[in-house]
Amino acid sequence: HAMPDLIRALPKAELHLHIEGSLEPELMFRLAKKNNVAIPYDSIEDVRRAYNFSNLQSFLDIYYAGANVLQTQDDFYDLTWAYIEKCLENNIVHTEIFFDPQTHTERGVPFSAVIGGIKAALADAHSQHGITSCIIMCFLRHLSEADAFATLEEALPYKDDIIGVGLDSSEVGNPPSKFAAVFKAAAEHGFKLVAHAGEEADFSYINEALDLLNIHRIDHGVQSIHSDTLMLRLKDTQMPLTVCPNSNIELRVFDHYDQHNIKDLLDYGLNVSVHSDDPAYFKGYLNQNFTNLCDHLPLSADDVVTLVKNGFRSAFIDDAQKAAYL
Ligand code: HPA
Ligand code: ZN
Repeated sequence: HAMPDLIRALPKAELHLHIEGSLEPELMFRLAKKNNVAIPYDSIEDVRRAYNFSNLQSFLDIYYAGANVLQTQDDFYDLTWAYIEKCLENNIVHTEIFFDPQTHTERGVPFSAVIGGIKAALADAHSQHGITSCIIMCFLRHLSEADAFATLEEALPYKDDIIGVGLDSSEVGNPPSKFAAVFKAAAEHGFKLVAHAGEEADFSYINEALDLLNIHRIDHGVQSIHSDTLMLRLKDTQMPLTVCPNSNIELRVFDHYDQHNIKDLLDYGLNVSVHSDDPAYFKGYLNQNFTNLCDHLPLSADDVVTLVKNGFRSAFIDDAQKAAYL
């Protein structure tokens, strides 16, 4: 098969990856035992059976429960290192990972343990394998803006380790406007800005994220297809959209891969790229996202190359590093 070979061979950039979403059931069990944390599963097979989602919230409930096993700085190191091993398998040479500090600080895990473990693993990934990376901290949108402000304050001592802020969790009912002030403050501190928008909620959330949050990238953004005005705007500005096909299928944003609109977005001229979101929960890492698309949509080899190059175009890396992959 030419296409899987091409996909494997291309060096890739990962721009939409929640590190907590890379927690494989095997590591979840090991950490649950070590830390004496109860998990509602009897076996690995039992866990995999539970990963059958009907929408975003049904996933988030299970994803936050899984994250409870992460307690110490070493746990965050092991989590991140396991993901780095997947980067090696998937030929990911640059990765920008999200983490959700509030999921951990709410449970009494210190911010320093979370960022310390992630950072140490990423440093080893660079020294041992040449993988470059950055870290983006996401605010949980189901919590208040005041909570987000407190988290921003907590992050300031680690400002040099965190390139940007994002916005994730339950989208419908928690629009970007709720976080306009904290995004403005984050920008003033020099953070880059991204936000999940138009995953499950309609395209008005994407307009809001652009108008009120001043984001540099849209995470997901697939609902943009329902607004001609927005499509033109996204094309004109070449605003990046980090699209996550497996996620969209597993969370029933589209019924099937052959219904996914990424080819339409690409053909229209948008700056779309492919990423893996929560690969331990959504049945596969980055190469699998590409092969699932190629198996069901008429993507050409040129399309695949464009999607991969768009990842580097949209990355928070300098022009010299971009030029190596464009
Ligand atoms: N959407 C919103 N929040 C998330 C996601 C997602 O796809 N993955 C992890 N947190
Ligand atoms: Zn996401």
